[in-house]
Amino acid sequence: MKKYIQYGKEYKKYFFLAPILTLVDTLAEVVLPMLMSIIVSNGVMAQDIPYIIKIGIVMVLVAMLAMGSAIIGAYCSARASVGLGANLRQGMFDKVQQFSFANIDTFSTGSLVTRLTNDITQVQNVAMMGLRMALRAPIMLIGAVIMAISLDSELAVVFCVAIPVLAVALVLIMKNAFPRFDNLQKMYDRLNSNVEENATNVRVVKSFVREDYEREKFEESNSLLYRAAWKAIRLVIMDMPVMTLVMNVTTIAVVWFGGNKILGGQMQVANLMAFITYTFQILMSLMMMSMIFIMGSRAVISSRRILAVLNEEVDLKSSDASQKNGYTVESGRVEFKDVCFKYKDGGEDVLKDINFTINSGETVAIIGATGSAKTSLVQLIPRLYDVTAGQVLVDGRDVKDYTVEHLRDSVSMVLQKNVLFSGTIRDNLKWGDEHADDTEIIAAAKAAQAHDFIMSMRDGYDTYLSQGGVNVSGGQKQRLCIARALLKKPKILILDDSTSAVDTATEAKIRETFNTSLKAATKIIIAQRITSVMDADKIIILDNGQIVGMGSHDELLKNNVEYQEIYYSQKDREVSA
Ligand SMILES: Nc1ncnc2c1ncn2[C@@H]1O[C@H](COP(=O)(O)OP(=O)(O)OP(=O)(O)O)[C@@H](O)[C@H]1O
Ligand SMILES: [Mg+2]
Repeated sequence: MKKYIQYGKEYKKYFFLAPILTLVDTLAEVVLPMLMSIIVSNGVMAQDIPYIIKIGIVMVLVAMLAMGSAIIGAYCSARASVGLGANLRQGMFDKVQQFSFANIDTFSTGSLVTRLTNDITQVQNVAMMGLRMALRAPIMLIGAVIMAISLDSELAVVFCVAIPVLAVALVLIMKNAFPRFDNLQKMYDRLNSNVEENATNVRVVKSFVREDYEREKFEESNSLLYRAAWKAIRLVIMDMPVMTLVMNVTTIAVVWFGGNKILGGQMQVANLMAFITYTFQILMSLMMMSMIFIMGSRAVISSRRILAVLNEEVDLKSSDASQKNGYTVESGRVEFKDVCFKYKDGGEDVLKDINFTINSGETVAIIGATGSAKTSLVQLIPRLYDVTAGQVLVDGRDVKDYTVEHLRDSVSMVLQKNVLFSGTIRDNLKWGDEHADDTEIIAAAKAAQAHDFIMSMRDGYDTYLSQGGVNVSGGQKQRLCIARALLKKPKILILDDSTSAVDTATEAKIRETFNTSLKAATKIIIAQRITSVMDADKIIILDNGQIVGMGSHDELLKNNVEYQEIYYSQKDREVSA
């Protein structure tokens, strides 16, 4: 609730006005039938024209009051709820921007999309309805019951039967509603994940001719959603006939007993008319309440899902101490001390007892089979994830002692799965340094061996890249990503398999420029090809999350079985090719 106050406070005027106006509107509506009955019994029967005019004017005023407050009340509640929805969306999006990699692993992308759109819409709709109906229904119920009793307390006994029957029906419906709506939202997640995955990977789907398979997959999640929705909606529409039945039976009972009373001379026609109107009001308010409960239970589910995102603890925050310390990375020495690491989803340690030191300015290569945890290892340096045990040190200080912003500014990492964004090449490179001028941009592009192909494109650095950089080749994209990383002028540069699509000659040139333009920086290069790693000062061999060899190319070739295996298998292939 505190969260909602935070996001709604901008619109607090409307949040206060809406219920107050509803109160006025409802009271006016409850008074009207009573005035009507008074006019008929005291004015019409006695043919007292001035009395009729007097009460008539009061009635018109009351009706106008009801209409005015209903219109303004509706306006206020719409303003308040739409505003709350917009603020919630913004708040949630901002929160997601703060998420660490581990946080993102907890929510699937599809689920985040549902939560940001559908769930917020549910809450918004219920807020709009609730601001008016939540107050209107009980007030109308109480007001109408009091009026009805004051008209004829004997006849009001009918409600003693109708109200409990409705209450029991409501409780039964509610009890079933929660799990069904919960399931419904989960099915929305599933569908959204499906669409998201398909839309982002449409090229892969096409190249593998998997359209039919994808269609089937979608059909399945769509039909699951359909069934979940039908199950939930069925309950909601059940509500209607039950209500109408009770309403009709009650009205008949009122007319029957009331009619008999009139025949017996114990009741006036005018009073019965008013009584019937109150009967309608009572039953209408009960119906409204049942709608509120049903929609409300859906909103409660959605609200829980929204709050789960808003209240998710962002790990990897900069600690207060690190803000105060103000430490900066100077040389870029990297040290791993007894590091173990595992992902949040449980399972076993992905990295086990990792120990090594990289001095500043050194080039270190990491090599190992796929799944040997190379990526997992380097992600610990810019704190994309945090270690489970042990310490990662930069310049002799725990990485947690730096602010995350500063650490990530000093450590430039070219991710294995990299993307470019919609925009010109220049815009994309400027992600590395938004204040970079053209000379710096060109220097970085030259170092990454990207300048020549950029210049050969029609618009040079102003060439527009469409989403994800689909209009450049794989190797070109990798070189743009390297240039982007170089612009940061990092103290530590990490390339995670970033030259896999670049030919060996170009790759050698890139490595050469590193040795001149990035001499002082620590360079960590993950690669599959021996040719990419053999010049490194040190080579680390990873196998199944453990270091099984460390040293220079010559040392390893002499006395490390794993390295020899990789070396000779690749050499053989080269020879046979
Ligand atoms: N986000 C994640 N959540 C859970 N497990 C993960 C995650 N990322 C990787 N893993 C697991 O951690 C292990 C190591 O993966 P990692 O990506 O570090 O390997 P790698 O050596 O970089 O492989 P490759 O050469 O294919 O890039 C794998 O078993 C993988 O299943
Ligand atoms: Mg990897």
